[in-house]
Amino acid sequence: MKTDHTAWYNANGQAGALLEVSHLSKSYDMNGSQQVILENISLCAAPSEMVCIVGRSGCGKTTLLNILAGFDTPSSGSAVMNGELIRRPGPDRCVVFQEDTLFPWLTVQENIAFGLKGILKNPYRKREVDRFLELVGLENFRYYLPGEISGGMKQRVALARVLIIRPQVLLMDEPFASLDYHTRRQMQDLLISLWEDLGHTVIFVTHDIDEAITLADEIVIMETAPGRIREKLTVPLARPRKAEQSDYIFFRKKILGMYENPGNVRGSDGNRQDEPRTQFNGGR
Ligand SMILES: Nc1ncnc2c1ncn2[C@@H]1O[C@H](COP(=O)(O)OP(=O)(O)OP(=O)(O)O)[C@@H](O)[C@H]1O
Ligand SMILES: [Mg+2]
Repeated sequence: MKTDHTAWYNANGQAGALLEVSHLSKSYDMNGSQQVILENISLCAAPSEMVCIVGRSGCGKTTLLNILAGFDTPSSGSAVMNGELIRRPGPDRCVVFQEDTLFPWLTVQENIAFGLKGILKNPYRKREVDRFLELVGLENFRYYLPGEISGGMKQRVALARVLIIRPQVLLMDEPFASLDYHTRRQMQDLLISLWEDLGHTVIFVTHDIDEAITLADEIVIMETAPGRIREKLTVPLARPRKAEQSDYIFFRKKILGMYENPGNVRGSDGNRQDEPRTQFNGGR
């Protein structure tokens, strides 16, 4: 059962998007000249929506996520959360990165409990940690150190560690890119089930079309130099989504057709697809 976060309401009492990016551009100074990285980006995410951003390497996906996280600021335009400009990081927005960011000297359960320090006292803290250990299937690994568990398990800990503080928005930057195919599929299923349980909004960056189709309510396709939005598509498929279903295959073909150069898009198997596929075997 999904627990909807409440949308903010404007002065007219109308519900607004939880997260709203309007005409956002970002430039960096490169040897004295301004390099435009993001140009005129507008998008929004509703409470409990899953938005996937796909695009070629260098199109500015991480830069956009950093701005949403409050690690960076736009050069023009705005990024707004709950009706307020995003100016700095906050506990309402948490980030999961591709690389391992766990504290290596803390056990799995200490890593997960870390964000609750100063927020929840024992025994409530212990109860929450137990709940999240169970949600990510790591009850039997609570006393392990990060160096003693697999890459997939580390990403489970990373997910639990941020979700335990109940952010309204989870920002994910290719979090499963370094995992093998099966672990990656398991992590996608886990992400969906946690999202259905907890009801947070997810902004998920990926190179992988199949990952985006599997997860997203909406897919934002970006193009590069400068990074801009090419297309926003609502995914018209019921969950769980199966790659062999005809409507999935049809939708996938439509997305692949939107890339100028499909050779830069990787499938779930991590392989480059140098040609648009004419024969689909579910993309696997
Ligand atoms: N702090 C910075 N100063 C100057 N240029 C930067 C800075 N951060 C990012 N860039 C440039 O912005 C562009 C977009 O980078 P970004 O990391 O956002 O791309 P990306 O879409 O996430 O790529 P990838 O898919 O490879 O992760 C790159 O050309 C990068 O060199
Ligand atoms: Mg990136």
